[in-house]
Amino acid sequence: MKDARSARSAPKATPSKTPFLSDVRELRKRARRHIQQGAVTENYRADRDTVVRVLNEALATEIVCVLRYKRHYFMASGIQAQAVAQEFLEHAAEEQDHADRIAERITQLNGEPNLNPDGLASRSHSEYVEGGSLLEMIREDLVAERVAIESYGEIVRYLGNDDPTSRRLMEEILAKEEEHADDLRTLIETLSAH
Ligand SMILES: [Fe+2]
Ligand SMILES: [Fe+2]
Repeated sequence: MKDARSARSAPKATPSKTPFLSDVRELRKRARRHIQQGAVTENYRADRDTVVRVLNEALATEIVCVLRYKRHYFMASGIQAQAVAQEFLEHAAEEQDHADRIAERITQLNGEPNLNPDGLASRSHSEYVEGGSLLEMIREDLVAERVAIESYGEIVRYLGNDDPTSRRLMEEILAKEEEHADDLRTLIETLSAH
Protein backbone atom coordinates (compact mmCIF):
# COMPACT_ATOMS: atom_id res chain seq x y z
CA MET A 1 0.00 0.00 0.00
CA LYS A 2 1.33 3.42 -0.96
CA ASP A 3 1.77 6.07 1.68
CA ALA A 4 0.17 9.47 1.20
CA ARG A 5 3.39 11.11 0.07
CA SER A 6 4.13 8.69 -2.77
CA ALA A 7 0.49 8.84 -3.88
CA ARG A 8 0.76 12.63 -4.09
CA SER A 9 3.98 12.53 -6.04
CA ALA A 10 2.80 9.79 -8.40
CA PRO A 11 2.65 10.91 -12.02
CA LYS A 12 -0.78 11.79 -13.32
CA ALA A 13 -2.46 9.51 -15.86
CA THR A 14 -2.07 12.12 -18.61
CA PRO A 15 1.05 14.11 -17.88
CA SER A 16 1.17 17.46 -19.63
CA LYS A 17 3.86 20.10 -19.73
CA THR A 18 1.39 22.92 -20.23
CA PRO A 19 -1.42 23.67 -17.77
CA PHE A 20 -4.85 22.40 -18.82
CA LEU A 21 -6.29 25.89 -19.07
CA SER A 22 -4.58 29.05 -20.11
CA ASP A 23 -4.45 31.92 -17.71
CA VAL A 24 -7.98 33.37 -17.76
CA ARG A 25 -6.87 36.98 -18.18
CA GLU A 26 -4.63 36.06 -21.11
CA LEU A 27 -7.45 33.98 -22.58
CA ARG A 28 -9.87 36.90 -22.36
CA LYS A 29 -7.32 39.23 -23.93
CA ARG A 30 -6.73 36.83 -26.81
CA ALA A 31 -10.47 36.46 -27.41
CA ARG A 32 -10.78 40.23 -27.86
CA ARG A 33 -8.10 40.35 -30.53
CA HIS A 34 -9.20 39.65 -34.12
CA ILE A 35 -12.88 39.33 -33.22
CA GLN A 36 -13.71 39.53 -36.94
CA GLN A 37 -12.37 35.96 -37.08
CA GLY A 38 -15.53 34.84 -35.26
CA ALA A 39 -15.23 31.26 -34.09
CA VAL A 40 -11.57 30.96 -35.13
CA THR A 41 -9.34 32.00 -32.25
CA GLU A 42 -5.55 32.25 -32.03
CA ASN A 43 -5.59 28.93 -30.32
CA TYR A 44 -7.12 27.14 -33.33
CA ARG A 45 -4.59 24.40 -33.78
CA ALA A 46 -5.40 22.89 -37.15
CA ASP A 47 -4.16 24.09 -40.53
CA ARG A 48 -7.27 26.08 -41.42
CA ASP A 49 -6.67 26.19 -45.19
CA THR A 50 -6.24 22.43 -45.34
CA VAL A 51 -9.31 21.82 -43.17
CA VAL A 52 -11.41 24.09 -45.39
CA ARG A 53 -10.13 22.32 -48.51
CA VAL A 54 -10.80 18.88 -47.06
CA LEU A 55 -14.28 19.94 -45.89
CA ASN A 56 -14.98 21.28 -49.39
CA GLU A 57 -14.09 17.86 -50.79
CA ALA A 58 -16.52 16.28 -48.32
CA LEU A 59 -19.11 18.87 -49.37
CA ALA A 60 -18.64 17.92 -53.04
CA THR A 61 -18.92 14.25 -52.08
CA GLU A 62 -22.25 14.91 -50.34
CA ILE A 63 -23.65 16.91 -53.28
CA VAL A 64 -22.70 14.15 -55.73
CA CYS A 65 -24.40 11.66 -53.40
CA VAL A 66 -27.57 13.79 -53.30
CA LEU A 67 -27.64 13.92 -57.11
CA ARG A 68 -27.00 10.19 -57.50
CA TYR A 69 -29.66 9.21 -54.96
CA LYS A 70 -32.16 11.61 -56.58
CA ARG A 71 -31.44 10.13 -60.00
CA HIS A 72 -31.92 6.64 -58.58
CA TYR A 73 -35.11 7.67 -56.81
CA PHE A 74 -36.68 8.93 -60.03
CA MET A 75 -35.39 6.00 -62.10
CA ALA A 76 -36.35 3.21 -59.69
CA SER A 77 -38.96 1.01 -61.31
CA GLY A 78 -40.30 -2.51 -60.90
CA ILE A 79 -42.39 -4.41 -58.42
CA GLN A 80 -39.90 -4.11 -55.58
CA ALA A 81 -39.03 -0.52 -56.40
CA GLN A 82 -41.37 1.31 -54.05
CA ALA A 83 -39.54 0.52 -50.85
CA VAL A 84 -36.15 0.95 -52.51
CA ALA A 85 -37.16 4.29 -54.04
CA GLN A 86 -38.22 5.52 -50.59
CA GLU A 87 -34.84 4.48 -49.23
CA PHE A 88 -33.09 6.42 -52.03
CA LEU A 89 -35.19 9.48 -51.25
CA GLU A 90 -34.46 9.25 -47.55
CA HIS A 91 -30.72 8.92 -48.20
CA ALA A 92 -30.81 11.88 -50.61
CA ALA A 93 -32.37 14.06 -47.88
CA GLU A 94 -29.79 12.93 -45.33
CA GLU A 95 -26.89 13.61 -47.72
CA GLN A 96 -28.34 17.10 -48.29
CA ASP A 97 -28.38 17.63 -44.54
CA HIS A 98 -24.71 16.55 -44.38
CA ALA A 99 -23.85 18.98 -47.18
CA ASP A 100 -25.56 21.83 -45.33
CA ARG A 101 -23.82 21.07 -42.06
CA ILE A 102 -20.41 20.86 -43.73
CA ALA A 103 -21.01 24.14 -45.60
CA GLU A 104 -21.98 25.80 -42.33
CA ARG A 105 -18.82 24.57 -40.66
CA ILE A 106 -16.72 25.89 -43.56
CA THR A 107 -18.15 29.37 -43.05
CA GLN A 108 -17.49 29.14 -39.29
CA LEU A 109 -13.86 28.55 -40.23
CA ASN A 110 -13.99 31.71 -42.38
CA GLY A 111 -13.79 29.65 -45.54
CA GLU A 112 -16.17 29.59 -48.47
CA PRO A 113 -18.27 26.56 -49.35
CA ASN A 114 -17.48 25.59 -52.93
CA LEU A 115 -20.80 24.84 -54.62
CA ASN A 116 -19.52 25.53 -58.12
CA PRO A 117 -20.82 22.80 -60.44
CA ASP A 118 -17.58 23.12 -62.45
CA GLY A 119 -15.24 20.45 -61.10
CA LEU A 120 -17.81 19.13 -58.63
CA ALA A 121 -17.33 15.51 -59.72
CA SER A 122 -13.55 15.71 -59.49
CA ARG A 123 -13.65 17.39 -56.06
CA SER A 124 -15.95 14.63 -54.85
CA HIS A 125 -14.43 11.45 -53.49
CA SER A 126 -17.37 9.29 -54.56
CA GLU A 127 -18.55 8.90 -58.14
CA TYR A 128 -21.78 9.66 -59.90
CA VAL A 129 -22.79 6.38 -61.52
CA GLU A 130 -26.29 6.14 -62.96
CA GLY A 131 -26.70 2.36 -62.84
CA GLY A 132 -29.03 0.44 -65.13
CA SER A 133 -31.07 -1.95 -63.04
CA LEU A 134 -32.37 -1.41 -59.54
CA LEU A 135 -29.72 -3.77 -58.21
CA GLU A 136 -26.97 -1.93 -60.08
CA MET A 137 -28.13 1.37 -58.60
CA ILE A 138 -28.05 -0.02 -55.07
CA ARG A 139 -24.60 -1.53 -55.69
CA GLU A 140 -23.26 1.81 -56.96
CA ASP A 141 -24.73 3.58 -53.94
CA LEU A 142 -23.09 1.06 -51.65
CA VAL A 143 -19.73 1.59 -53.37
CA ALA A 144 -20.14 5.37 -52.96
CA GLU A 145 -21.01 4.97 -49.27
CA ARG A 146 -17.94 2.81 -48.76
CA VAL A 147 -15.78 5.47 -50.43
CA ALA A 148 -17.28 8.09 -48.12
CA ILE A 149 -16.71 5.87 -45.07
CA GLU A 150 -13.04 5.47 -46.00
CA SER A 151 -12.40 9.13 -46.74
CA TYR A 152 -14.38 10.50 -43.78
CA GLY A 153 -12.53 8.12 -41.48
CA GLU A 154 -9.29 9.58 -42.80
CA ILE A 155 -10.56 13.12 -42.26
CA VAL A 156 -11.54 12.28 -38.67
CA ARG A 157 -8.07 10.87 -38.00
CA TYR A 158 -6.42 13.86 -39.68
CA LEU A 159 -8.39 16.35 -37.56
CA GLY A 160 -7.55 14.49 -34.35
CA ASN A 161 -7.58 16.93 -31.45
CA ASP A 162 -6.68 19.95 -33.55
CA ASP A 163 -10.26 20.82 -34.54
CA PRO A 164 -12.67 18.84 -32.34
CA THR A 165 -15.79 20.55 -33.73
CA SER A 166 -15.04 19.61 -37.33
CA ARG A 167 -13.98 16.17 -36.18
CA ARG A 168 -17.24 15.62 -34.27
CA LEU A 169 -19.26 16.75 -37.27
CA MET A 170 -17.40 14.35 -39.55
CA GLU A 171 -17.76 11.55 -36.99
CA GLU A 172 -21.53 12.04 -36.90
CA ILE A 173 -21.72 12.06 -40.69
CA LEU A 174 -19.45 9.00 -40.86
CA ALA A 175 -21.82 7.12 -38.53
CA LYS A 176 -24.72 7.99 -40.84
CA GLU A 177 -22.83 6.77 -43.93
CA GLU A 178 -22.21 3.49 -42.13
CA GLU A 179 -25.94 3.22 -41.52
CA HIS A 180 -26.58 3.94 -45.21
CA ALA A 181 -24.10 1.27 -46.28
CA ASP A 182 -25.78 -1.23 -43.99
CA ASP A 183 -29.25 -0.32 -45.33
CA LEU A 184 -28.00 -0.88 -48.87
CA ARG A 185 -26.42 -4.21 -48.07
CA THR A 186 -29.72 -5.33 -46.55
CA LEU A 187 -31.56 -4.21 -49.69
CA ILE A 188 -29.17 -6.16 -51.92
CA GLU A 189 -29.65 -9.27 -49.78
CA THR A 190 -33.43 -8.88 -49.83
CA LEU A 191 -33.58 -8.35 -53.59
CA SER A 192 -31.15 -11.19 -54.32
CA ALA A 193 -33.28 -13.59 -52.25
CA HIS A 194 -36.25 -13.12 -54.62
FE1 LIG B 1 -23.58 11.92 -46.41
FE1 LIG C 1 -24.64 8.22 -47.25
